[in-house]
Amino acid sequence: MNVNKILNGGLQKGLVKVKGWVRNKRGSKQTSFISVNDGSTINSIQVVAEAKKISEETIKNITTGCCVYVEGSVVNSIGSEQKFEILAEKIDVLGPADVSEYPLQPKKHSLEFLREKAHLRFRTNTFSAVFRLRHALTYAIHSFFNERGFTSIHTPIITSTDAEGAGEMFQVTNLEASGLNAKNIDYSNDFFGKKTHLTVSGQLEAELAALGLGKVYTFGPTFRAENSNTSRHLSEFWMIEPEVAFADLSDNIDLAEEFLKYCINYCLKNNLDDISFLDNRMQKEESQLKKEERSEMGLIERLNFVLKNNFVRIQYKEAIEILKNSKPNKKKKFKYIINEFGADLQSEHERYLVEKKFKKPVVITDYPKSIKAFYMRLNDDGQTVGAMDILFPTIGEIIGGSQREERLSVLKSRMREMNIEEKELWWYLETRKFGTCVHSGFGLGFERLIMFVTGMKNIRDVIPFPRTPKNANF
Ligand code: 4AD
Ligand code: MG
Repeated sequence: MNVNKILNGGLQKGLVKVKGWVRNKRGSKQTSFISVNDGSTINSIQVVAEAKKISEETIKNITTGCCVYVEGSVVNSIGSEQKFEILAEKIDVLGPADVSEYPLQPKKHSLEFLREKAHLRFRTNTFSAVFRLRHALTYAIHSFFNERGFTSIHTPIITSTDAEGAGEMFQVTNLEASGLNAKNIDYSNDFFGKKTHLTVSGQLEAELAALGLGKVYTFGPTFRAENSNTSRHLSEFWMIEPEVAFADLSDNIDLAEEFLKYCINYCLKNNLDDISFLDNRMQKEESQLKKEERSEMGLIERLNFVLKNNFVRIQYKEAIEILKNSKPNKKKKFKYIINEFGADLQSEHERYLVEKKFKKPVVITDYPKSIKAFYMRLNDDGQTVGAMDILFPTIGEIIGGSQREERLSVLKSRMREMNIEEKELWWYLETRKFGTCVHSGFGLGFERLIMFVTGMKNIRDVIPFPRTPKNANF
């Protein structure tokens, strides 16, 4: 039986059987108290082992980190920490752990240390809570789209197109390394007969599917070789990309707002134990920081704050006007000064708008075409495109999306402007040639959403095995 069921089920008849990992052991010669966690909940169950039932030899072998099988009856606990505990009839050590070598001692370890021990960090309260929430969010995302009649689409991981045009791709090849160094490589000899990469987005393929199935979404791994070693970037991350036929930019923002709120609400309803634990953890961690570095809200407060508020929608040009005349605080200037139309917003600007100016999630629309991808729909002014970025407190950009260019001639001229070859994207262009229609979509960075829901400050701590520049361990 799992620990979650026992703790929520209360007293029950007969013996229960539990398997899990020992977090710690304390007690006297007569009675030992062993805390066992099986990953089903943030809470461990206390196992009481009395010398008359459990041998001294067994007790000696029960150490932090070992794996045990426990048989016993559920009784009311005398201690104030838990309502129920198990009075052990039998304990087997299934997998011993040499206490002198086990890296996770029953004390607080830094997140940096635990990153080096990513193979064991699932056994800590913090990471088990984070990964249960990662699962809850996965489930919520599929439910959200399923309830609304979307079809899930698996888009290719190996591709020959750079949807975002940023050139930040990992090449996929089976040519010998010596061949890759040569100047004029003949890719017709490569595995796929052309130059290929790991995908940076499933969007272009999702668009093809939407222009037949109406409403689709992808949920898959995404790879970007950007050399930004920040707390918000991964080289391998997961992205959710819905694409909807007949939806314009405003419908797209409505969908994104409803979607984010649904996911957060799902976690608050179903995973409150984990969120409460992380909320406490975050507040403890922040109490160590200087006052001006602390967040103004606790985790649960921040989640409710997103649920309760309507997202502010402003155009890029309004955002620039605000930023031109603002400072992050009295003493400090922005690191990157925004002074003209066409400047790309940095995360310091995004966070200023959300956390200081509006104190609400902010959606910025209609960015200059010069800083956005070729597929975004050109506005009537000829300068801006129907783009939208959603900015969240502490995270900055959580979603990027747009209305797509559905007009064949405009799309072709944008591609010419940006030196994108038509023959590479003939299939994409054919959807505009045959039965084109207004359509829109967006991409949610899954790990950024998990950061927001868990309060974790480094993106490396919300994915089991992070891939970042110079790091592909485990
Ligand atoms: O804004 P981006 O680049 O948009 C696209 O890829 C579009 N094709 C989406 C679409 O319209 N279908 O990326 C979308 C989101 C960002 O808002 C961010 O949350 C996340 O993906 N993201 C990253 N997350 C982690 N590590 C990285 N290196 C990321 N780059 C983007
Ligand atoms: Mg973006």
